[in-house]
Amino acid sequence: PYSQQFRQSLVEWFHEEKRDLPWRQTNDPYKIWVSEVMLQQTRVDTVIPYYQRFIDKYPTIESLANADEEELLKMWEGLGYYSRARNLQAGVKEVVEKYGGTVPNNRHDLQRLKGVGPYTAGAILSIAYNLPEHAVDGNVMRVLSRVLHIKEDISLVKTRKIFEEAVEQLIHPEYPGDFNQALMDLGAMICTPSSPKCLLCPVREYCLGFMEGDAEQLPIKTKK
Ligand code: ADE
Repeated sequence: PYSQQFRQSLVEWFHEEKRDLPWRQTNDPYKIWVSEVMLQQTRVDTVIPYYQRFIDKYPTIESLANADEEELLKMWEGLGYYSRARNLQAGVKEVVEKYGGTVPNNRHDLQRLKGVGPYTAGAILSIAYNLPEHAVDGNVMRVLSRVLHIKEDISLVKTRKIFEEAVEQLIHPEYPGDFNQALMDLGAMICTPSSPKCLLCPVREYCLGFMEGDAEQLPIKTKK
């Protein structure tokens, strides 16, 4: 019932307020993939210059597939979690060898690639291919736990699936990439872990946490 107004308000807010981020200048699935891998464990502000240098050096999927591993790891220095870089290159090589360099446009094939899980696959599908696929990470779970009053423990691995099923009902059918990125920006800018700025929130009238006054107490997380 509210889902249409919710998604419309959210996407309109995004069009006005979205952060100007370099990976938003493109819908090249390879570049979206690189950005999402970098963003997995590293803050946006830190990622920006790394992303730009990385794309300058490896502008195409073939260039990364053929990159010297030592140089690649050098480019990654400072981002940490080097296995991400190795997995990214392994995944990219698979795409070049198996799919002629075209990043798959379906979840099944994407999730079989090295280093690509449900979140990264959903981000690539929605942002690069504009397909209505969920991309649920910790920030998105926080936002949704508040809006929908989902009190499942987000420390449990099985909980992500509950959020994925919930968000599938909400995704904007015309703007799935903007919708998913709007949830990310809302989590970063408004629906922050502590002191969420509910009075500035474009979807507060649809938010059960705001209505109940317990948004800040969500999500439920029993262990870190
Ligand atoms: N965090 C992870 N992916 C992101 C994206 N595409 N935009 C903003 N923040 C993100």
